Amino acid sequence: MITTSTVAATRARVKEYHAAGEPIGLVTTMGALHEGHLTLMRAARDNHDRVMATIFVNPTQFGQMADLATYPSDDKRDLRMLTDEGVDCVFLPKAPTIYPAGDETIVEATRMSNMLHGKVRPGHFRGVTTVVARLFNIVQPDAAYFGEKDYQQLQIIKKMVRDLHMPLTIHGVSTVREDDGLAMSSRNVRLGAQDRKAATVLHKSLMAAEAAATKGTTVEDMWSVIADMITAEPRATLKAVDIVQAESLDPVSGPLTGPTAIMISAEFGDVLLIDQHVVTP
Ligand code: PAF
Repeated sequence: MITTSTVAATRARVKEYHAAGEPIGLVTTMGALHEGHLTLMRAARDNHDRVMATIFVNPTQFGQMADLATYPSDDKRDLRMLTDEGVDCVFLPKAPTIYPAGDETIVEATRMSNMLHGKVRPGHFRGVTTVVARLFNIVQPDAAYFGEKDYQQLQIIKKMVRDLHMPLTIHGVSTVREDDGLAMSSRNVRLGAQDRKAATVLHKSLMAAEAAATKGTTVEDMWSVIADMITAEPRATLKAVDIVQAESLDPVSGPLTGPTAIMISAEFGDVLLIDQHVVTP
């Protein structure tokens, strides 16, 4: 596996792959890799001759410096995992490579970035689209793979690519779960044993809402099913339950009329977890 840290070295590698007629699938990460990331690498491998990954803990998507400082990071372990996975090239830049001194250009999906999770994390999605646009410009992949767990992020990136006519395809990949249903996340390692167990309520509540939906329930009833289950778990602090049109993320109400995304977030101790599920009536 090749590791690059500069734009020039990364582009040289990309040029080589493209000259050989080898399409590239990209997976962008902030490290702290887990099975969910490896699933994205495998999806890229299934469809492309070359798989490239990026590891960059993006400062502009963290609201609080404390959150950035505690973000888990172990490059050696991550690189070993990517080597074992057969990834061809990893771009591991330092912050000034991505954000050169004096830079001033941002990318933002102005509506979708400031709704739902974006309301409680001001600037977060602007940081995500800004870094992802820069990474896409550097790597110039044919496709990029993102987890459906970060559902709003995935829809925003799809929108950015459409709006800016970026020449690549975005693939969403289903959430990878532990045996008990908890969505895999780099944050799970910060959960104590009791919170880890309690956190399974997130997936259980989504499944209960889906079961209600198959019986023809309304959006409001699904909302109550989820909110009741999560608030009944003493270790959980419910932060949000959003039920929205699956692509535009616009709010919906009444009987389900099309693909509908349920996005939830709750805190267990000081660890904020999110999960999602798309229900099709
Ligand atoms: O989902 C993530 O890990 C990050 O938000 C991403 C897409 C790598 C941008 O920093």
